Order: sequence, then structure tokens, then C-alpha cells
Amino acid sequence: MALHSRIRVILLGLALAALAGCGGSAPGAAPSGEPYVIKFPHVVAPATPKGIMAQRFKELAEERFPGRVRVEVYPSAQLMEDTESIEALAFGEVQMIATSLSLFDRLTPRFQVFDLPFLFPNLEAVERFQASPAGQELKTTLVDDGILGLQFWHNGMKQFTGPRPLIEPADARGLKFRVMESDILQAEIEAIGGSPQKMAFGEVFQALQTGTVDAQENTWSNIYSSKFYEVQPYMTESNHGYIGYYVAVNAEFWKSLPEDLRAGLEATLAEVTQWGNERSEAINQEDKQRIVESGRCELTVLTPQQLQAWQEAMRPVWEEFRDAIGADLVNAAIAAAQ
Ligand code: LMR
Repeated sequence: MALHSRIRVILLGLALAALAGCGGSAPGAAPSGEPYVIKFPHVVAPATPKGIMAQRFKELAEERFPGRVRVEVYPSAQLMEDTESIEALAFGEVQMIATSLSLFDRLTPRFQVFDLPFLFPNLEAVERFQASPAGQELKTTLVDDGILGLQFWHNGMKQFTGPRPLIEPADARGLKFRVMESDILQAEIEAIGGSPQKMAFGEVFQALQTGTVDAQENTWSNIYSSKFYEVQPYMTESNHGYIGYYVAVNAEFWKSLPEDLRAGLEATLAEVTQWGNERSEAINQEDKQRIVESGRCELTVLTPQQLQAWQEAMRPVWEEFRDAIGADLVNAAIAAAQ
């Protein structure tokens, strides 16, 4: 059974059990007197845009609500990979996640809008879309799956790394590219003649090192903090896509919090989002600089004509996914991106 259907069947079962009077307390709710515990797993290093935002949320939440809430942040896939985190959130095994938007395609095709290649030229364009009514609506898209979106966090724009210079799309031909577990990213790599390999983030370094995959796409901050540049001799500044996160909570748990605490945590999260999103571009640029200065990975900057060739090669992906995503959403994203 698909994840989507599995989650709904189990949630229905839980609801019926609760109605029959045999339900326990809401998932994640602590016995009275104890602080509420928010388990918050993620997969990247602490010194990344997501890492610093998760940590700051923890610090501010615990400082503002002493004894009432404890936020346990587990970075670097210590607790679980992000593919597992979506299911764990739906079932209340963890209470908060900030998982890549690309990974939600197992629940809805709507979020694939963020992965249409070259749609968003930069983070400001993404931000305009996320702030628009169409973008804001995505926060409640997964409520029936037990998942409530509260914020969007940025990482940054994606770049390619590989075993040879990737200057034109033909250079990608025949290479095995690691992609996140997403169908649209798989199609994007197929469009340039590469062979996509879906893989969890925590496995990427070793896969690159041992040659299980040849190449990958990611942000400067992930390439730097996870040391991909140490095992990849070339990188191309392509800015061909976006990595950002759906900061979401278990809807049932969130509803079970006392109103003042919930409102306070939401305000804190909004504040942290603004603080971190403003810093994400600078973190990525600093990390790019660090990689260049390491001398371990040679940077290709594409000319406008070269960039256009990549855009044209990936363009068929739009036609392939537009209807499933919904033309309304794609058009809203295009309008916001301009
Ligand atoms: C990836 O899997 O490449 C990224 O989504 C990891 C992350 O959370 O930034």
C-alpha cells in the first residue's frame, strides 16, 4: 500500500480507537507536570541553514517556556533518515520535522512545484511564492495525513558535483547521479542523459567515495558540511533547482498543546524562520568560498549560452509533471518567480 494510503488507514484506526474510549493521550503529549517533548530529527550538519534554525528554535523555546517544553534536536541523521521522518511524524513518533520539500511527493504531487528545474532563479523568488496565497495553502495540504505545515525554511540553490567537468548537458550522459527519493528529480536527471539513483542523504558521502554513484546535486552548504567536495573533483554552479524544507508538526500533538504554549511556539518558530532564512544565502556563499579555497574541487561557472543549454535539456520535465502538480500552482509559482 502506498505511504499515503497506509497513513490514512492507520490514522483512521487511531481515531476509531479513541472514539471507542480506548485511545491513550495524544501522541507525544507528556503526563501532566512534565515538559512537552518535541523530538525533532533532521539529516544535515548543525552548521547548515537548517541546523542553525533547529538549534535556535530549541534554545528560544526552552528559554521562553522553562519547564514546559523540551526540544530534542537530532542532527546528521542520528535518529533517522529524512525519508523515514515523514512517516514517523504522521504516526507521532516524532513531533516536528524540517524535511526537504522534494520528499513529500509520496503524499502529494503538489510539492513537486518546488523541483521544476530552473523555475525559481533565486531564494527571493521562492520566498515570494511561499508567501503567496497558493504557497500558504500548502501548509494545510497534508492535514488529513496528520501533518501540519507551519513554516518553510530555505537551504539554497542546487549545484552539480561530478567526476568530470559538467559544462554542457552531454557531459552528464552515462553518469550515475544520486538524487533524493523523488520522481521529479529522477526525471530531471534522465532529461540530461544521466542515470538517477535515489538514495538517502546519510549514504551519499560513502556512495560518492566508493563510486556507487558518480555525481550528485546539492546546495553549497550541504556539499561543504557533508564533505562531498573531498570526493568529487569537479563542481558546476548551475543553480538549477531549490532545496528548502517543510517545517511540520504532528497535527494531533500540536492541537493537544495548551493554547498559550502553542501560540508562543508558533511565534518563536516564525521569528526563527525569518532569522534563518535571511542568513541561508550567506551561509551557502561562504561554504562555496571555503570549497573553492580548499583547492580540492574545481569550479565551473557556466556562460549564459551554456546555462541555456541546461535549461532547454531539462524543460521537458515541466510538461511531464505540470498536470499532476496542477496548472494553478505552477502558474502561481511562475508569476511569483518573475
Ligand atoms: C538531500 O537529501 O540532499 C537534502 O535534502 C538533505 C537536506 O536535508 O538538506
